[in-house]
Amino acid sequence: MTLTWNSYASHDAFAGGVLDDLRGTIETAVSTNGHATVALSGGKTPVAILERIAGQALPWTSVTLLPSDDRIVPITHPLSNAGMLVRVFGRSGARVLPLVSEVTACAEAGARADALLQRVDWPLDLVWLGMGADGHTASIFPGPDLAAALTAPASQRAIGVHPDPLPPEAPVDRVTLTASAIGAARRLMLVIEGDAKRAVLERAAAEGAASQYPIGRLLAQLTTPVNVHWVGSF
Ligand code: 6PG
Repeated sequence: MTLTWNSYASHDAFAGGVLDDLRGTIETAVSTNGHATVALSGGKTPVAILERIAGQALPWTSVTLLPSDDRIVPITHPLSNAGMLVRVFGRSGARVLPLVSEVTACAEAGARADALLQRVDWPLDLVWLGMGADGHTASIFPGPDLAAALTAPASQRAIGVHPDPLPPEAPVDRVTLTASAIGAARRLMLVIEGDAKRAVLERAAAEGAASQYPIGRLLAQLTTPVNVHWVGSF
């Protein structure tokens, strides 16, 4: 696994670097394959950056956007990552593909999301990952479903998970891309802010498969290089 660090001295430069990466991936995929399929992180970090790119001149009608993971809530719920993507990209012309269409038990929600992704152009052109302070990424969290999310076969693209402990910022069950789905992507970005997250990522990457942090165990499996975009705490 290779981490390429792109460190920025300001939030504006950070957003610009992420945008350039995302825009380049979309333009290359559309010019090469006629379409781009991109999974975007949820949480708070991406929103301001995505709002900037949504207003830019890109071939949006040839782009499918989906959350890398989602909370098992209605799309109208403030915790819905797909709802965030619809709010940001609803007028761009891009197709937004929710992973959660109905609130069900997490195993069922995972099975439905996997069935949906079986019909999506594969592999994904890009997965934009975030990371929590606890070292989770996408919705690969500590808990009873951690091993299954990390070791699912290549045929399984999504899985339902019950984080334990439930993350305070979004204390609900989730669906997530599996580690194999993430690892199959043509390109990977990891977009994080703050010194604390940098320290967690560096420790997790060094610990690898034995890490207590899900991100460490994921990175240990990856053969695709990961482009890290990071800006320090201010
Ligand atoms: C989610 C995200 C998750 C997110 C991290 C960081 O649905 O929660 O996909 O993996 O990237 O929790 O979130 P912040 O950017 O809000 O810190």
